[in-house]
Amino acid sequence: MITVISATNRPNSMSLVVAQAYVSELQQLEEDCQLFDFQTLPADFAGPALYGETSASMRDLIGRYIEQSDKIVFVVPEYQGSFPGVLKAFLDGVAPRLFKNKKTAIVGVSDGRAGNLRGQEHLTGVLHYLKAHVHYSKPKLSQINTAIDRNGHWLDAVMHKMVHDHAREMVEF
Ligand SMILES: Cc1cc2nc3c(=O)[nH]c(=O)nc-3n(C[C@H](O)[C@H](O)[C@H](O)COP(=O)(O)O)c2cc1C
Repeated sequence: MITVISATNRPNSMSLVVAQAYVSELQQLEEDCQLFDFQTLPADFAGPALYGETSASMRDLIGRYIEQSDKIVFVVPEYQGSFPGVLKAFLDGVAPRLFKNKKTAIVGVSDGRAGNLRGQEHLTGVLHYLKAHVHYSKPKLSQINTAIDRNGHWLDAVMHKMVHDHAREMVEF
């Protein structure tokens, strides 16, 4: 099972559009996959309970999307030159043992030109700390609003190919 995470809870995010497009590439490859949209996180998940006995709904999300996944693709928007705080808060609430030897990959998304290069490096550091494997290929989807429309139709053939090829590599990973 490959889980594709849209790593922001911002409404109407382009990361969710990209994550859905990534899932559709995996489905075309007949790969078992699911989408984890961070908008489904409980609104109060980052309260003090995050560090102790987490709520039943968080345990369910972590079990379904992290523990039971063989591979995880993080679709990560660039926020203030890094990955979103909501993603770090989520990772802080997951038992580190659940990431040990997990196969992961990072797709960067930005309005600007960097495609979240910095956020990919920051997140790679955290995932390596957690003893996860991070795929060497990290697509940088820059100027995302000209690459794909809100309905998930690709406008930029090169970026579409990057995601298509990456999904194939993730199946083989
Ligand atoms: C809090 C916040 C910070 C952002 N910081 C950056 C940034 O540092 N560089 C950049 O190119 N775009 C930045 N953006 C724009 C996002 O990259 C843009 O919204 C893009 O569509 C991906 O984010 P989304 O998935 O929330 O739509 C920022 C957006 C938000 C909401």
